[in-house]
Amino acid sequence: MSEPPALPRRAEDLERLEIELLLEGVFRRYGFDFREYAQASLKRRLWRRVYAEHLETIAQLLDRLLHDPRCMERLLLDLSINVTAMFRDPSFYVALREKVVPLLRTYPFTRIWAAGCSTGEEVYSLAIVLQEEDLYEKTRIYATDINEAVLERARTGVFPLDKMQQYTQNYINAGGQRSFSEYYVAAYDSAQFSRSLVDNVVFAQHNLAMDRSFNEFNLILCRNVMIYFDKALQDRVHALFYESLETFGVLALGHKESINFTAFADRYEELDSNERIYRKVA
Ligand SMILES: C[S@@+](CC[C@H](N)C(=O)[O-])C[C@H]1O[C@@H](n2cnc3c(N)ncnc32)[C@H](O)[C@@H]1O
Repeated sequence: MSEPPALPRRAEDLERLEIELLLEGVFRRYGFDFREYAQASLKRRLWRRVYAEHLETIAQLLDRLLHDPRCMERLLLDLSINVTAMFRDPSFYVALREKVVPLLRTYPFTRIWAAGCSTGEEVYSLAIVLQEEDLYEKTRIYATDINEAVLERARTGVFPLDKMQQYTQNYINAGGQRSFSEYYVAAYDSAQFSRSLVDNVVFAQHNLAMDRSFNEFNLILCRNVMIYFDKALQDRVHALFYESLETFGVLALGHKESINFTAFADRYEELDSNERIYRKVA
């Protein structure tokens, strides 16, 4: 007979067991795999959802999740932190223009993957740069996220008007060449961005933790997404990106991320170490 597993003795052990069961339940009921997300922030977010649902334990939350898909949608919003901005980290877009655009010019047609694009601000920023650099017409952008609710917002291209002052400043600092207000029309408290910016964009759901590669790309942006993943999941996603990039394709990560210390470190060269932009060379 096999040994029984160690039984949970302390409150923390029981909590860990409840979290494991919840993540397994979410995976088997809905296919969303958060089993390899970094533990500390996951635990905080689960407890926040427990209280928001007026429950007392994580096991009770599992019960509700299994029987109420709307509760799953709420949890998904909690777990997939969607903070983003137009021309976030303006210096990144300066490096994009100076170091990546010249490479993209060498291709007759360019495919770009914006993975974990959230509500789309990054994609609209990228489209603006490509339009200004006269590259947009020969580009297709695949913009993906795990969360259909944020993609729905991204498709509309409507962002809060009160953000425009900050975004205009970001755009200027990012080397913008026109007047930022040319790209949107203000209506009440919203800014509706030009539809021409998404003519060549496909928004689609894609889960980096589970789904496979779906094309070969010249540029992949995955900024501020993997910070929420543990090492094993980061390695999986790096394998996916390596497989999805053509040779000499470019990978752009967030400011707090790096290719160093991953299994793929020696397959890339640095194009810009501060901006975390890498080029696949092997
Ligand atoms: C902080 S936002 C980053 C948005 C944008 N890339 C930026 O830098 O501004 C992280 C996004 O990653 C998405 N995400 C989290 N886990 C994911 C997964 N397993 N597959 C795809 N997207 C995921 C979230 O839904 C969220 O929209």
